Amino acid sequence: MNAANPIGVFDSGVGGLSVLHEIRRTLPNENLLYVADSAHAPYGDKSRQFIEDRSIAISEFLISRQAKAIVVACNTATGAAVTALRSRFSMPIIAMEPAVKPAVANTRSGIIGVLATRRTLAGDNFVRLFARYSAEVEILGQACPGLVEQVEAGDLSGKKTRLLLEHYVSPLVEQGADTIVLGCTHYPFLAPLIQEIAGPAVAVIDSAAAVARQLYRRLEVGNLLAVKAGVVAATQTETTTGTECFWTSNGLDSAKPIISQLWKRDVEVCRLPLLHSVTAIK
Ligand code: DGL
Repeated sequence: MNAANPIGVFDSGVGGLSVLHEIRRTLPNENLLYVADSAHAPYGDKSRQFIEDRSIAISEFLISRQAKAIVVACNTATGAAVTALRSRFSMPIIAMEPAVKPAVANTRSGIIGVLATRRTLAGDNFVRLFARYSAEVEILGQACPGLVEQVEAGDLSGKKTRLLLEHYVSPLVEQGADTIVLGCTHYPFLAPLIQEIAGPAVAVIDSAAAVARQLYRRLEVGNLLAVKAGVVAATQTETTTGTECFWTSNGLDSAKPIISQLWKRDVEVCRLPLLHSVTAIK
């Protein structure tokens, strides 16, 4: 594996761009490949087998583009597919975990809220986190149907998005939560509105920066950093030299403006080729 190779990142859609932002901040010299599987978002509505098949096929695509590591920038795909990905591919596979641990360290009221998809809240990873920390704090899980779709549509602050968020966030605050975990990578794009609804006394946290740090560590340990570790650390505030390439399974007319909006720069987006390499998509 060559340290100059790119890092592959994927999500059910555009939400993983929130993780890509943190990866870019932490690793300014790496070349990044991003796949938004927006034609199939939200993954939360699909079967576990579908998500696993899709995650394997997208990973194979990223590996065909020389990816030296894969970041599963999707909590839902992490729950459904990370075990299959790790048993299939030998490179570092970095995945999401809702930021419950830092939330437990942060809360003073002893009550934390977790906003996530229904599938993430019901998945083994979250059930394990819940079992580990629920003796110390009260954990209120709040499923948020409809929010992924709002971010996919680029609607970060419109009336419908606000109504949905009020419906999901206000009950958590009323029940005493002083820390809200964003357990879906789409939600950090809604953080300003979530913070406004929750009020200034509530901390809103996500795990994107922790995932970027974990990626950094894994690359460092494997001698896979594009530039020597010390040099990368010293250049974090310097000009980015890495590049980004974006693919979408959606139509380019709708995908390009939304990816550019969320990436905060006008970018080229390519159409993801049809992926056939694993079992037929159900
Ligand atoms: N960004 C995905 C996540 O973090 C969205 C979930 C979905 O597509 O259902 O879970």
